[in-house]
Amino acid sequence: MNIIIINGPNLNLLGKREPEVYGNTSFEDYFLQLKTQFKEVNFSYFQSNVEGELINKLHEVGFSIDGIIMNAGAYTHTSIGIADAIAGITSPVVEVHISNVYAREEFRHQSLMAKNCVGVIAGLGLKSYELAVYYFTNK
Ligand code: DQA
Repeated sequence: MNIIIINGPNLNLLGKREPEVYGNTSFEDYFLQLKTQFKEVNFSYFQSNVEGELINKLHEVGFSIDGIIMNAGAYTHTSIGIADAIAGITSPVVEVHISNVYAREEFRHQSLMAKNCVGVIAGLGLKSYELAVYYFTNK
């Protein structure tokens, strides 16, 4: 089973960025834990702060990989390009968020990409990613 985690803007700062919202763990540390937890999964990871690079990565992997776990960060709420890229590929995408976007500012309540994803997991901290992996591995 091949799964890619794609993180969007500012998620490279996890562990340093607004720790009261996003926690103290860097994504690199969490990713190591995840790989230990799911030894049967072949994980890859991509992060970019650039919208077009995220779209290019979706195109590159999106016709062959078993599952995509995507936290598009702020682009979740603004990017028609990412939403269209997800609609245009065949690999299933689970949208994840660390924070509970519905308990935050109103502009975070809308996701342009959600309707093109198989599901959305939000608000469970970094565990949101783990639960998305369970979705793909238990199917
Ligand atoms: C986020 C929520 C977004 O609203 C925000 O812009 C992020 C992170 C989350 O994981 O909680 O950058 O996607």
